[in-house]
Amino acid sequence: MTGYSPLFRRLDALLTTNREFWQFMPFSSNQLIWEQSHPELCQWLLSLDDEAITHFIEHGEALAQVIAAWIPDATELYQLSQLEPYFLHQRLLPKGLDVGIPGRKWQQITAFNQVVPVLKLPWLEWCAGKGHLGRVLAASHATPVTSLEWQKTLCEEGEAAARRLQLPIDFVHGDAFDPACEQHISPQQHAVALHACGDLHVSLLQRVAAKQGKAVSISPCCYHLIREKCYQPLSRLGQQSRLTLSRHDLRLPLQETVTAGQRVRRQRFVEVSFRLGFDSLQRFVRGSDEYMPVPNVQKAQLNEGFADFCRWAADKKGMILPEGIDYPYWQQRGEKRFSLVERMELIRQLFRRPMEMWLVYDRACYMEEFGYQVSVGTFCPKPITPRNILIHAERK
Ligand SMILES: C[S@@+](CC[C@H](N)C(=O)[O-])C[C@H]1O[C@@H](n2cnc3c(N)ncnc32)[C@H](O)[C@@H]1O
Repeated sequence: MTGYSPLFRRLDALLTTNREFWQFMPFSSNQLIWEQSHPELCQWLLSLDDEAITHFIEHGEALAQVIAAWIPDATELYQLSQLEPYFLHQRLLPKGLDVGIPGRKWQQITAFNQVVPVLKLPWLEWCAGKGHLGRVLAASHATPVTSLEWQKTLCEEGEAAARRLQLPIDFVHGDAFDPACEQHISPQQHAVALHACGDLHVSLLQRVAAKQGKAVSISPCCYHLIREKCYQPLSRLGQQSRLTLSRHDLRLPLQETVTAGQRVRRQRFVEVSFRLGFDSLQRFVRGSDEYMPVPNVQKAQLNEGFADFCRWAADKKGMILPEGIDYPYWQQRGEKRFSLVERMELIRQLFRRPMEMWLVYDRACYMEEFGYQVSVGTFCPKPITPRNILIHAERK
């Protein structure tokens, strides 16, 4: 075993044995789901006040240490998901390149540019958007860029910006899934993708590997945006895993539990407790203990109060609510469930980054299986973007 496969195997083993703590839907349960299996853990969870929950959300290591009393693998999982930052090379950029690029995006792009190895090859920018990254790469390294993007207007805007700055960038208006796009991938090229969602960055890795492209650097995001119902592991190791990941499971890495200000917390409390209250009510009315998802709701609708929300939700689901419903009772049920969901989500938080690392190492192992030398690290601090992992694979 070489490279990232030992790490992948260990994470795979720990995530598999601890499935009961993360692979479920907190929303759909009426109680803490470990009441029978781990009563003491549940007691501890119920003893936490808001302040303690916020503290543990913000301090993953402290959470892992406390939880180790009931989930002994917690500390190892925490350690396995730590990553080193890449070395930042100072790279001078001409003035005016940041015009029209939002601040955070600019920070992500310049950080990406400062960590990718310089191979002096033409670049391929996969799912380029307006080609912000492509412009920085072209200007910083004086090498041509091909930017592939699906939305025509973004291609046009990107083309205009490149012309204005006199940069050697060609936009290709195309669908990354279309086999015709393979023609844009070549062995003497450095392919990049910044935040191309799920299957889109996977399709790049597969094509680069198939065409034996010299190098590819990607920063993955939105792992749940896949065409199949379940995750299809890329590496042979991943394919041997006993884990089956649904789209719901694949959302876990993106669920950064909010430690927002009072106002946002209050809004979340109202919306989530209304939804859960309606869910309890609909289970009672229909006599079926099954969760019923309700579509997105306008904030203004929530201001009308719980009873109105229930009538709105019932209407959306084509359900008739009987007369004489005790709405305050069901609202209270929703509020109680909200506090249970928060506590179950706290435990799932422990597995958020490990799950992301499992997905990242599956990609790393896949490229290694094709003979690439792979590195994995962070390219910027989390506040700039929580999707801060960069996988670089290079054929030596
Ligand atoms: C999250 S954005 C990232 C854009 C850019 N890389 C950045 O970081 O600013 C993803 C981009 O992928 C593009 N996209 C979505 N589906 C695509 C497809 N099938 N083929 C090519 N591009 C696609 C979207 O239009 C969007 O511009």
